[in-house]
Amino acid sequence: MLPTIAWQDSDIVMIDQRKLPAAEVYVTCRSVNEVAKAIKTMVIRGAPAIGVCAAMGLALGAARSKATGTKQFTTEFQRNCELLASTRPTAVNLFWAIERMKQSFADGALAGESVDQLKSRLRITADGIHDDDVASCRAIGAHGAPLVPAEARILTHCNAGALATAGYGTALGVIRGAVEAGCKVSVLADETRPFLQGARLTAWELVKDGIDTTVITDNMAGAIMRQGGVDLVVVGADRIAANGDTANKIGTYTVAVLAQAHGIPFYVAAPWSTIDLATADGDAIPIEERDAREVTHVGSTQLAPEGASIRNPSFDVTPHQLITAIITDRGILRPPFIENLRA
Ligand code: MRU
Repeated sequence: MLPTIAWQDSDIVMIDQRKLPAAEVYVTCRSVNEVAKAIKTMVIRGAPAIGVCAAMGLALGAARSKATGTKQFTTEFQRNCELLASTRPTAVNLFWAIERMKQSFADGALAGESVDQLKSRLRITADGIHDDDVASCRAIGAHGAPLVPAEARILTHCNAGALATAGYGTALGVIRGAVEAGCKVSVLADETRPFLQGARLTAWELVKDGIDTTVITDNMAGAIMRQGGVDLVVVGADRIAANGDTANKIGTYTVAVLAQAHGIPFYVAAPWSTIDLATADGDAIPIEERDAREVTHVGSTQLAPEGASIRNPSFDVTPHQLITAIITDRGILRPPFIENLRA
């Protein structure tokens, strides 16, 4: 299994996802500020992974605190929560993990715990969030595998793999689960402009696992579907609203429309921490707009002229009507999503 994020002594180490696949470089974070920067700058990315990272960052920030009394320690903890919550707006897992850490802190404070006791409870809670994420991904894989035919050509978009989680992956968890169940699977990985998570990260993970993988540019998916080259689509999610509308990497909506036009099942795979029942529908999901340079340049090569306006919304919303089923760690949800998610 790939080491997305781990403790090394009392520091946090993560593989630098900006450098893959050209180089396998690790970044060490020694402070909560460094953890926040790593999330913002995409050293680590993927909804569940940034949630896990934020929880570990809060435990790290607490462990490094020089506060002697609970008052100052609490103020610092709250400031660290705000800092990490400001890094990226779309993936709800980030806010879910911070809330879990806040709840743990509140429980400890209510029980009258000392600063040292609070530090150790935050570390235990963060480690639990990490380990639960791997278990959730494995459960998603086990629930999703029966949806995959014995021989399947599967298209995926972005990276919802081990790198996007604490390990195993969500959409790639379904693919791994199907392979483990004996299915003969080949994967079409959309390259995923502009950050190229599909070409760089999904293909890297799957090739390492020995799973047959073909990288295509995003604009090839329709033609390949029309030729009958795709049996099903499975993608991850950054936030699933109460009615099933799903925010995921920009381009996912296009793939969903194409899948429906060609009668191909379109599955979303996500842990329960991605489901946001407090958000009524996709229109209420905040969509991150990232730096124009991700669009104008690939590495140091300029693609678009200066003077052109640039848009770079990092996510889009797939309306629930286009989703065949949502594969979660608790089982498979089918329409009507609004009733079934609530239940
Ligand atoms: O901008 P990113 O790379 O963080 O976006 C990642 C995605 O959109 C993933 O598909 C999503 O987070 C699910 S990861 C299991």
